[in-house]
Amino acid sequence: MKMVLLLTGLLSSSVVLADEYDKGRRLAFDRNRGNCLACHMMAGGESPGNVAPPLVVMKQRFPDKAMLREQIWDATIKNQNTVMPPYGRHGVLTIDEIDDVVDFVYSL
Ligand code: HEC
Repeated sequence: MKMVLLLTGLLSSSVVLADEYDKGRRLAFDRNRGNCLACHMMAGGESPGNVAPPLVVMKQRFPDKAMLREQIWDATIKNQNTVMPPYGRHGVLTIDEIDDVVDFVYSL
């Protein structure tokens, strides 16, 4: 019985790990939602555009995760003339969805 519980625990924790960034990835890649691939190359994404920097080694480029969140929430804070949509400010993504996308992007 203990063994079964242990196995169940192991299995469910590995499922959680495998799915950790799924929500954010789906939102980022969805052409009708984040659509980040229209402009950014992102690992695992197909047919990326190249008008924006590839999203790689994000932890090194954004030691402060809050700055990454701010960029995605409202890119115009940093650059008034950016073509990047202000996902949070315009309500393109909800607060929870922004957090999911930030977590995913931070894993790249
Ligand atoms: C219409 C094009 C476009 C879309 C769509 C877009 N971005 Fe951007 N993004 C840009 C551009 C251009 C920049 C370069 C900085 C600037 O314009 O100020 C940028 C910059 C960034 C940066 C900062 C990169 C760095 O190294 O400084 C991040 C992070 C980012 N985008 C994430 C995202 C995410 C996540 C999405 C989707 C939810 C997204 N972007 C959608 C155009 C876009």
